[in-house]
Amino acid sequence: MSAGSSSSPREALSPKTHPCRVQDVRRLTQDSVLVTLDPAGALETFRHKPGQRITFCLDLQDRTCFRSYNLVNHSGGLPQVAVKKVTRGGAAEHFNDIVRIGDVLNVMPPEGTLYPDSIDLKSHHLILFAAGSGITPVYSIARHALRARPDHHVTLFYANSSTRDIMFAKELEELAHSSRLEVYHILGDGGTGEDASSGRIDGHRVAKLMDQYGKVDLPEYAFISGPSGFMNAVESGLIETSRSIPYRRYSFANQPYVHPRDVGVDQLTSRLHIHSGGEPRLIKDAPRHLTILEAADQAGLDMPADCRSGICHRCKAKLVQGRTVSKPARAGGKILDKGWILCCQERPASPRIDVEFP
Ligand code: FES
Repeated sequence: MSAGSSSSPREALSPKTHPCRVQDVRRLTQDSVLVTLDPAGALETFRHKPGQRITFCLDLQDRTCFRSYNLVNHSGGLPQVAVKKVTRGGAAEHFNDIVRIGDVLNVMPPEGTLYPDSIDLKSHHLILFAAGSGITPVYSIARHALRARPDHHVTLFYANSSTRDIMFAKELEELAHSSRLEVYHILGDGGTGEDASSGRIDGHRVAKLMDQYGKVDLPEYAFISGPSGFMNAVESGLIETSRSIPYRRYSFANQPYVHPRDVGVDQLTSRLHIHSGGEPRLIKDAPRHLTILEAADQAGLDMPADCRSGICHRCKAKLVQGRTVSKPARAGGKILDKGWILCCQERPASPRIDVEFP
């Protein structure tokens, strides 16, 4: 918070929530659901721009937890979020297995600045890259772009492990009836057998896809959303192409959302030292209600991470000093060696924390 702000820290970190009735829960894939909310008189508050997200205040088994998800509805319609279950015991499981029609959830208004307004001032060719549940912000952008201007064109490259994992498969198929939208699925399990539809995304491949598809004679703008390894690969491919394309990555770091404080850790912060080769980086007041990874995101530091759910172990680091507490019911199966932590799963619990990446 900037100096001189008139609001108290608590007010600044606890924006107003609105009670929203769950109007529908629809399964998208075996492990994801589309949740439709009815904010009643607050509908106007939930009018959003493409790529924005809302934050839920959820009462899980033993604590209050705050989680943000992208809005995927048309702006002005009932708010909808798509939630993929990637771990056990967390918010995503809550949405997939517990939330029912008629439940009332407390939700904060939309936030985020992924989509520049200037794009709609003239005709554009938008090139979207998404992997897995990273589809949600770019799906919102695709729908918006097709409605915003009759001369926008959109090309979407969407990577998944298999066809079973494709979120919004039917909706994308319907959208692709528009001659202004091309959708290319890239599947890790071999895809449809066509060369371009299978395998992993790397920078070189992205450069080839860019040359092969989506040749529309308009100014181009790209959006990337998915695990950081995927986004890095796409980014390097975009840089490799001969065309110079402005692009934006979707990440927690560039979303201005704030988590209200979890119950029981009001006002507490830690000095967080992160050692990752080179100069150690310091976050002087890492809030204890955020995980170490979330605190680094909020401070604008780039840390290794992919799933953010305790599965991939990309964020594994040695806890050199201090104590942390785990989020409950961590999934992923692997037991960590003593002294090692997953930064996406641990919150600071002592005045000073030192973590070192291998
Ligand atoms: S980011 Fe995957 S385990 Fe932490």
